[in-house]
Amino acid sequence: MTSERYYGLIPAAGAGERMGQPRPKQYLDLLGRPMLHHSVKALLADARIDTVFVVLAPADREFKQYPWGEFGGRLAPLYCGGATRHDSVLNGLVAASSTVEPEDWMLVHDAARPCLGRRELQRMLDELAADEIGGILGVPVADTLKRADPVARIQATESRENLWQAQTPQMFRHGLLLQALGRTAKLSDEAGAVEAMGLKPKLVQGSAENLKVTYAEDLQLAQTILTSRGNQA
Ligand code: CTP
Ligand code: MG
Repeated sequence: MTSERYYGLIPAAGAGERMGQPRPKQYLDLLGRPMLHHSVKALLADARIDTVFVVLAPADREFKQYPWGEFGGRLAPLYCGGATRHDSVLNGLVAASSTVEPEDWMLVHDAARPCLGRRELQRMLDELAADEIGGILGVPVADTLKRADPVARIQATESRENLWQAQTPQMFRHGLLLQALGRTAKLSDEAGAVEAMGLKPKLVQGSAENLKVTYAEDLQLAQTILTSRGNQA
């Protein structure tokens, strides 16, 4: 019998430069709450998630200005963010080591994905519970893909067969993830580090609604999605 636990880890130490706003995007208002609040809430919606660690910039002064009481002891801020997302996740994994066992599952989830759905999270936990390696949420590429030349003229039409877009959460055992991220740098996601060890993470069907808020117009879309679910905060 397995007795491993499930934890969330949300890197939230970025500057959100592409949003073009003075404050980091994790604190931008989304239905009266900072965006980070929705991302935390989405992970904690599944009772199997024990605690969500949030990795903040060491100089973060904003987190404490918001009320987090509704999550009780299930939310744990860690002021150990680094210069890149990779560093923030790695520092967070190290800081969480005092609580988390190597066999426990870590679900690494971007603060910038506030619309993670309950159903997709549940599917991920169900499909990967007995998995040897772990996996990520993703969606098969639906659009026709064009390769461009440097002046945006189409050079070729690429096959989209077996191509997926990677999302978060990315779910791996703490020990494996620590080892994988410690060996590589400059990868944009956790799965890439695990792949670099010669392992094949599983792709779990996600939803296009789990968008990453990167540019200003994405925030409006996120608001529309949350509102359509009747999620007011
Ligand atoms: N992140 C982090 N530490 C960093 C950089 C990013 O914890 N040094 C986090 C962000 O806060 C975000 C997630 O990683 O939750 C995904 O990164 P991204 O969408 O690129 O956010 P930013 O880096 O903040 O945005 P930008 O690249 O536009 O500056
Ligand atoms: Mg970034």
